[in-house]
Amino acid sequence: MKGLILAGGSGTRLRPITHTGAKQLVPVANTPILFYGLQHMADAGIEQVGMIVGDTADEIRAAVGDGSRWGLRVTYLPQEAPLGLAHAVLIARDFLGDDDFVMYLGDNLLRDGITSFVEEFTQHRKDTSGVPASAQILLAPVPDPQRFGVAELGPDGEVVALLEKPEIPPSDLALVGVYLFDPSIHEAVRAINPSDRGELEITDAIQWLLDNGHRVRHEILRGWWLDTGKLTPLLEANRLILEVLEPAVHGKVDEHSKVEGRVVVAEGAEIIRSTIRGPVAIGANTRIVDSYIGPFSSVDADCEVIASELEHSIVLANSRVENVPRVIDSLIGRHAVVQRSHQRPRATRLLVGDHCQIDIDS
Ligand code: G1P
Repeated sequence: MKGLILAGGSGTRLRPITHTGAKQLVPVANTPILFYGLQHMADAGIEQVGMIVGDTADEIRAAVGDGSRWGLRVTYLPQEAPLGLAHAVLIARDFLGDDDFVMYLGDNLLRDGITSFVEEFTQHRKDTSGVPASAQILLAPVPDPQRFGVAELGPDGEVVALLEKPEIPPSDLALVGVYLFDPSIHEAVRAINPSDRGELEITDAIQWLLDNGHRVRHEILRGWWLDTGKLTPLLEANRLILEVLEPAVHGKVDEHSKVEGRVVVAEGAEIIRSTIRGPVAIGANTRIVDSYIGPFSSVDADCEVIASELEHSIVLANSRVENVPRVIDSLIGRHAVVQRSHQRPRATRLLVGDHCQIDIDS
């Protein structure tokens, strides 16, 4: 079994979150979203991964490297334009050969990983008693199925049709961004035409399998799942991941500090005269001094939080928060400085990047 991760190019979904970076590298609980996918692949026993990359290829390569950190061998497969998820399969043809594979959308986050999903398919394919399925999809009930690929199940509970972003959804079962295929998908992706949004849709390719007499198995997802490409609910993703983090304190906590609950303090971090109330993740070499870090916060590597209070917030790497009494529900970017100043005239002085939102205390 091989893996195929879509980390750029592919479709409209995989454009960068900002002009400066790949959204799959935005950290959740101080770990880039994409790394959870790589870890899930490794956990499921996959060794070879094809990584579809687009215009953020350099950034993805720099972050992921050859994949050996996860025990994976990563092969980069550049996609010249975001022509769709099925197009990604098309260009991965040589890499995939005639192997079964799992395809994973690099901005999806699944609580429980993909191990059982992969095992079920492998088991099923070994079983010679019934008609073998050519694909397996993962479905999850959602309140807004119009924004997803949607499955229609027949009276016997089997998948009978799949529709991409239907105006009138036949069910509330959305396609999660993890798919298992046997080599028949290669014929399917060559046979379909681009959709109204100009992309080769994987949903249409799976529908083609159904239309051509193939069986498509499905599973209903139990743990939570987030498509962070949809509205980037970063604070939510952060909250969900922090809740399942293994607590570990590798950095230094001085005797005047308190660390309570589910807390990760990475190597080289220092907690000085501060209270950390989990779930919280503190990144490598970050200093928390005379401060309070409250539940559901992630402060990434090489930051400083001094004489401040932070709760339900994300601070990305290399930033500093100083003398700010209370920061909540906030996302602070990289190399940012948030501080109280005593300059005159008294005023709020801002240097705000693109697409930002600042709510000033009344
Ligand atoms: C893609 C698929 C869709 C699926 C979704 C899951 O949508 O086309 O079928 O439900 O991923 O994240 P997109 O984000 O490209 O609109």
